[in-house]
Amino acid sequence: MISDFLQNPGVLLPIHSRVESERFGIDVARLNIPIDSPASDIQIAQICNESSADILILRYPSTRNRLAQSLADLSKAQAFQADTLVYFSKDLDPITESSKTNYSWKFSIASPNDNSIIKALSQIIFQDYPNHYRSNHRLGSQSIVDGYVEWASFGLADSAKLTAIIETPDSKKIGFALVSFDENGAEIELNGVHPDFHNQGVYSVLLQMLMGYLANQKIEKLSISTQIQNTRAIRAWVKAGFNLEFSLNTFHIMPRY
Ligand SMILES: CC(C)(COP(=O)(O)OP(=O)(O)OC[C@H]1O[C@@H](n2cnc3c(N)ncnc32)[C@H](O)[C@@H]1OP(=O)(O)O)[C@@H](O)C(=O)NCCC(=O)NCCS
Repeated sequence: MISDFLQNPGVLLPIHSRVESERFGIDVARLNIPIDSPASDIQIAQICNESSADILILRYPSTRNRLAQSLADLSKAQAFQADTLVYFSKDLDPITESSKTNYSWKFSIASPNDNSIIKALSQIIFQDYPNHYRSNHRLGSQSIVDGYVEWASFGLADSAKLTAIIETPDSKKIGFALVSFDENGAEIELNGVHPDFHNQGVYSVLLQMLMGYLANQKIEKLSISTQIQNTRAIRAWVKAGFNLEFSLNTFHIMPRY
């Protein structure tokens, strides 16, 4: 979540990722570097060099423009940039957000009964979705899609999260957004629209309705992130009034055998 990068956890330590390790059948760890971390590039590079994980997924602010070369020079590990992530956010105002209604598309909050449709939607929406996993030849394509399906399904089952659904006028469920909450507000973790319904403004409506719903719940800020090349999603966010917060480089670090 965005809070991983806005709060300083103190000591930097790679964290074993159980879910990703089980999914890919290898030892996967994560290391997130917050925006204002006092750690030097040399310290970060040393931690990466000593990692024993099969893949260490490192995310650090793109403003550290000299770190990539230090990572390229690691003696015990090889590293490559797997994607660039951009975070956007918007302050929600109950009056402005809730005045934007009028749509023929229908908005609802999903229940656990929607599990099979949420799984089917994520399967098709994220079939070829380009992310940092896909940059790595070691990771199987089907496991990557399965990961999205599992993420959406577990998110739906999590009572601390919310899954919003967008439907056609005849009640066909064609898109969703999984939202989580913390002290910074709400964050869309995962979202998309069935490809048969692209380019009809469905996503923009889903965003508007979701922003209105959250503003009415007194949520003050909504954040979201994606890969920098996802121009379609980013354009929709800019139109909806979101602003760029910061960008992160994702590196995969693997031991040299
Ligand atoms: C990104 C994504 C959600 C966009 O969905 P979408 O429903 O096609 O988006 P919209 O229709 O709202 O907007 C797309 C375009 O349709 C245009 N549009 C809006 N209303 C329209 C209408 N009534 N008729 C025709 N076109 C319209 C928009 O202007 C926009 O064009 P632009 O890209 O030139 O600005 C979809 O491509 C998707 O699911 N991608 C895979 C998952 C993903 O990337 N998720 C987001 C990041 S986590």
